[in-house]
Amino acid sequence: MHTLQAPYARTTASRVRSGEPNAELMFVGEGPGADEDIQGEPFVGRAGQLLTKIIEAMGMTRADVYIANVIKCRPPQNRNPEPDEVEQCEPFLFRQIATIKPKVIVALGKFAAQSLLKTTEPITRLRGREYKYRDAILMPTYHPAFLLRNPSSKREVWEDMKRVRAILAGE
Ligand code: URA
Repeated sequence: MHTLQAPYARTTASRVRSGEPNAELMFVGEGPGADEDIQGEPFVGRAGQLLTKIIEAMGMTRADVYIANVIKCRPPQNRNPEPDEVEQCEPFLFRQIATIKPKVIVALGKFAAQSLLKTTEPITRLRGREYKYRDAILMPTYHPAFLLRNPSSKREVWEDMKRVRAILAGE
């Protein structure tokens, strides 16, 4: 069993979110990387800068939205989180969702989408569809880190974000 003990506990457990507590739109990523660990904020590295651009292209700023991760601490050596670590972190994310009560949750990438939807379906199958998630609509889309490696997929993410904008506008 992995527990939140050293060395895991020495990572940045408190650095779990950024943004507006009344946000209607919430983004959920995988977990903090090295840049997030240093700066103490989610999505501030290269992938985060792309996420900022996506948010701005939607006509919003980072201050208008709420950004969280499934995993709250950076696993040692940046390895993939183990299932029991996801299990330990999930209650915090569930509480964040219950507190913020977003209208739309965008799950960024396979890890967030599969964790929230409790499925092993690939992100290519999950994205482009809307899911009822508690009182919100969940839209899985590609992770910005994937877009950095596959810029041609930006078009699909933009389609997803246009749909998110429409849902937020009540359409
Ligand atoms: N990738 C994520 O999934 N989350 C972050 O906070 C940064 C990069």
